[in-house]
Amino acid sequence: MGESGLARLGWIGVHLTCEKNGIGKALLEKVIEHCRAESCYKVTLYTLPFLIPAINLYLKYGFVLEAYLLKEWWNVDFMKMSRWP
Ligand SMILES: CC(C)(COP(=O)(O)OP(=O)(O)OC[C@H]1O[C@@H](n2cnc3c(N)ncnc32)[C@H](O)[C@@H]1OP(=O)(O)O)[C@@H](O)C(=O)NCCC(=O)NCCS
Repeated sequence: MGESGLARLGWIGVHLTCEKNGIGKALLEKVIEHCRAESCYKVTLYTLPFLIPAINLYLKYGFVLEAYLLKEWWNVDFMKMSRWP
């Protein structure tokens, strides 16, 4: 996060053996809490359309699809999802 007030969430990942145990939720809650504390007006991230667990997680925490980017990087589609804390 820079001084602009926009926070960018990079890749998050949980080890395969630990998935579906609430770690993803806990990580995202910390990110949102931190963004609120830092008075960010928006949190944004890029993800891929086939990462269904991640998309479900983001939707659950109020992220919305802001843009669907056709062949954005590496010749594949990306999704930009954002949340306004
Ligand atoms: C996305 C990821 C971080 C989620 O972490 P996690 O610890 O398994 O997630 P949680 O146990 O906290 O689950 C949170 C929510 O995510 C969604 N979710 C998690 N695993 C899922 C699965 N296999 N299928 C569908 N939805 C899933 C559900 O909405 C779940 O909520 P619920 O348990 O109430 O149904 C993990 O699956 C991962 O590391 N994926 C590979 C890397 C990746 O895609 N990173 C995101 C890049 S943008």
